[in-house]
Amino acid sequence: ASYDMGGHDTYMHKEIHEQADAVDRVLRGRIDDRFSTVHLGGLNLDAREARQIRRVKILGCGTSYHAGMIGAQMIEELARIPADAEPASEFRYRNAVVDPDTLYVAVSQSGETYDVLAAVQELKRKGARVFGVVNVVGSAIAREADAGIYVHAGPEVCVVSTKCFTNTTVAFALLALHLGRTRDLSVRDGKRIIEGLRKLPEQITEILQQEEEIKKLAELYAEARSMLFVGRVRGYPVAREASLKLKEVSYIHAEAYPASELKHGPLALIEPALPTVAIVPDDDLLEKNRAALEEIKARSGKILAVAHRHQEKADQTIVVPKNEDELDPILMGIPLQLLAYHTAKALGRDIDKPRNLAKSVTVE
Ligand code: G6P
Repeated sequence: ASYDMGGHDTYMHKEIHEQADAVDRVLRGRIDDRFSTVHLGGLNLDAREARQIRRVKILGCGTSYHAGMIGAQMIEELARIPADAEPASEFRYRNAVVDPDTLYVAVSQSGETYDVLAAVQELKRKGARVFGVVNVVGSAIAREADAGIYVHAGPEVCVVSTKCFTNTTVAFALLALHLGRTRDLSVRDGKRIIEGLRKLPEQITEILQQEEEIKKLAELYAEARSMLFVGRVRGYPVAREASLKLKEVSYIHAEAYPASELKHGPLALIEPALPTVAIVPDDDLLEKNRAALEEIKARSGKILAVAHRHQEKADQTIVVPKNEDELDPILMGIPLQLLAYHTAKALGRDIDKPRNLAKSVTVE
């Protein structure tokens, strides 16, 4: 496919900058202010059926798997249904127990990833209910699923996913809100989440306005041979995705770790030559995260924090606008997409087509 570049040097850059509009599209026509919930026309799920769901299992590959990790946390938090994400490629080979009271959700930008499609087919053969969270309308996974939510990110051309990741996390927020409002999520909390969702496009624009500063940071960190990404609970999938993005486009080795696990291994690696990117939301774990920054600093590690306010222990902080705690993960990775992009650019990489990677993996 070839679309107008609109003055951008790469599709990755263009797609990063399309995110405010893309999020606007995934929200459009879906919010129901009267009942503080959302309408998801493609779900075909009445309230009684929604209440029978006892678990949610989310399956995807690559960036879509990471979006699913964020989705699982949102579903647990807002709907109080146990939820987790797993790579579809692992799930399909382990003869997983398929449970009729579990809702399975297949996540895919292209809707064509073979491992995800095969997982959906296996699930359906065993009588499971499968939803799709898919970008490409009418794609194989969208057709195979019983119902679903289109993420409406628009065409994504760059091999590495940016705007579709963001829109998928927003689609999961909608699903979590919808399930929550058939259960114990109050009208008041429903309203709070809706207000938070409405703020996202403007907050994304605010983040993207910091591009010049992020570019300077990227030029600084482009010299690193390896980088560590840490986060805790809501910040952990953000760290996972940011580390994937950096390694895909810049070829710098990157590893993501839960900040809580630092002392069980990665601290041994800390030295000035191994910078850490830390996700530090202003939530109930702020003090815990600050303690982790201190541990890294005490071992002369360099730290770049992504946070809601300046972090003293960090060498630099990228400050992102605060949303509702549950929705913060949607925004916190966005500056790190720009960091990955500018790092790759500083190193002269082939940004839209990284070596050895394909946009969609339609074979085993
Ligand atoms: C490939 C792409 C990734 C993508 C993954 C899943 O590995 O390079 O960017 O996240 O496939 O693709 P999907 O279309 O299923 O989201």
